[in-house]
Amino acid sequence: MADPFKNDPPKAEKLGAMTESFVKDALAGESQASQKYLAFAAVADGEGLPNVGRLFRAVAYAESMHARNHLSVLGAIGDTVANLGTGHGGETFEIDEMYPAYRAVAQMQDNKEADTSCRYALRAEEDHQKIYAATRDKVKAGSDLDDTPVRVCPICGHTVIGDAPDECPVCGTAAQFFTKF
Ligand code: FE2
Ligand code: FE2
Ligand code: FE2
Repeated sequence: MADPFKNDPPKAEKLGAMTESFVKDALAGESQASQKYLAFAAVADGEGLPNVGRLFRAVAYAESMHARNHLSVLGAIGDTVANLGTGHGGETFEIDEMYPAYRAVAQMQDNKEADTSCRYALRAEEDHQKIYAATRDKVKAGSDLDDTPVRVCPICGHTVIGDAPDECPVCGTAAQFFTKF
């Protein structure tokens, strides 16, 4: 049997100026999102909702993988990243406006790795939007989530409640590499 496939993060490439600017903005936003969700997790724990807290930690990990991918495209892993762009807010904004526009620019500039990094994030933000909507309904009804594991692809941040798919539908990484929360 073939070895299980694990994808690699998108690689550094020479970026068009517009794409570089967008990827830096996306990096700042994903980094802030990761920290925000860790803070939310502590609030959920404090309210006696440990499974909601666990979900927030899983999504924080997915956001930090998006930040890692953007850093990789920028050629900045293991280096200092100076002069990052300002942040922005929200899964919906990232899904409806930011990443589709970033992808269009990256494609126009033939920056395939930047396009891949943005595509990974866009697809995972769609997961998060759906999961958060369902979570919000439960918490508003006064209950925690159940204790079903949350699993996150370590490459693209694809986020699922329950078992990992045999292959990540976004990047192809095998189920055994998913991180469990
Ligand atoms: Fe993200
Ligand atoms: Fe997200
Ligand atoms: Fe993936």
